[in-house]
Amino acid sequence: MGFREYLKKIDEAGYLQNVDAEVSKTLEISGILKEIEPTPVIFNNVKESEFRVAGNLFCSKEVVASYFGVPSTDLIPMLTKAISEPSEPEIEPNAPCQEVIESNVDLDKLPILFHCEKDGGNYISSAVVITRDPDYGQNMDFHRAMQFSKDKFSTRIVSGRHFHQFLKRNIELDVAFCIGNTPNVLIAGATSVDIGIDELHIANALEPIKLVKAKSVDLLIPAEAEFVLEGRVFLEEKHAEGPFVDLTETYDVIREEPVFEVKKITHRINAIWQALLPGALEHKLLMGMPREPTIFKKVNETGVKCLDVNVNPGGCSWLHAIVQIDKNSEEDGKKAIEGAFAGHTSCKHVFIVDKDIDIYNPLSVEWAMATRFQGDVRMIIKDKEPGSSLDPSAEPGTKMTTKIGFDLTKPLTVKGKSFEIAEFPKVDINKYFKGKD
Ligand SMILES: Cc1cc2nc3c(=O)[nH]c(=O)nc-3n(C[C@H](O)[C@H](O)[C@H](O)COP(=O)(O)O)c2cc1C
Repeated sequence: MGFREYLKKIDEAGYLQNVDAEVSKTLEISGILKEIEPTPVIFNNVKESEFRVAGNLFCSKEVVASYFGVPSTDLIPMLTKAISEPSEPEIEPNAPCQEVIESNVDLDKLPILFHCEKDGGNYISSAVVITRDPDYGQNMDFHRAMQFSKDKFSTRIVSGRHFHQFLKRNIELDVAFCIGNTPNVLIAGATSVDIGIDELHIANALEPIKLVKAKSVDLLIPAEAEFVLEGRVFLEEKHAEGPFVDLTETYDVIREEPVFEVKKITHRINAIWQALLPGALEHKLLMGMPREPTIFKKVNETGVKCLDVNVNPGGCSWLHAIVQIDKNSEEDGKKAIEGAFAGHTSCKHVFIVDKDIDIYNPLSVEWAMATRFQGDVRMIIKDKEPGSSLDPSAEPGTKMTTKIGFDLTKPLTVKGKSFEIAEFPKVDINKYFKGKD
């Protein structure tokens, strides 16, 4: 399903809020989206632009699962399969994303949002970035981009990303920043797979997509995207980037980052811009969800039966993982901790729980910690390891951090008090309160 079709579907079902009043791309649309998060919204009358803006579209696992027409429990197996069995998308000669071709680039005409007061500029935050290396082929990932002129951005390229590796090898790269995408493309763009695997093939395995050749660069791009900004990124031409809100909801610092020069803009007729609030639920979901299958796999590889994984928003959907296991031996908790850290190296705290704990309910997880955990014997501390550059508490510049695994599982042999939650009798409540209204 394309972005358009999805918006139509949720509009008809009454989920999409329409804002017809005039709204500004500067400090207004972002405020409205944040205020009513996770409700999806379309802004039909943007003050500074002829284009509409839609946001808060994929803020929860339930919404993503319903997009794919599966229960939420199927997401980890589905993503695992798509990563291990990527498939080549069809290529078509003409595509909706090229209905309008604009060679006279003026970024001010686009509804590029200014999100929060201390931001360094208008930011694109929802674009998947497609590029190509002569040896490795195409790569797709995310890079936020701060507008600083009518045709230029500075774009944040974290060291080590495949895009960064491509850029170091080639010094300059053709790129396509594609905006207005559905979860198959968005989730695939957020996966970290082996270099040389085109994440568009993962997107196609999640749900078939069509690609088209970009107009001015030698790249294959999603045919159904709403906007495509074609151009070139330069390793050695830098510009200040930031401040901007990070995944952690705190401000990132200002850095000198590579310049992205836009040479051509293509878009659909009446194109709709996709907003994605930095640090908010949708950003978190897209970051955390692709790590769940890798944690699931690595925990199972330790010989422990993993039942489910939640890289939860309370842990910024990046720094914490809650792992549910079917415990069969006293060592399972600790083995699962090792597996989870191997499956997500940026993770700082891992919580291992039994199958009676609801990993989507923070109260349930905290209850397991309160009643089943003893710090002297059930905790693994990994002093000063490389963690996440996103963590404000990690050592500045080096990202060194202390990782801790908490085994919150109950012992298999109970010596003292019971670890089970007492059950109250089940009653038919309607029998007692009938006729009250
Ligand atoms: C919404 C969103 C925004 C992101 N922004 C950036 C960014 O600005 N810079 C960056 O280097 N990575 C960013 N990331 C993370 C990478 O795109 C992501 O980890 C990707 O999987 C790396 O791909 P690679 O394995 O091909 O290097 C973002 C991810 C998401 C989901």
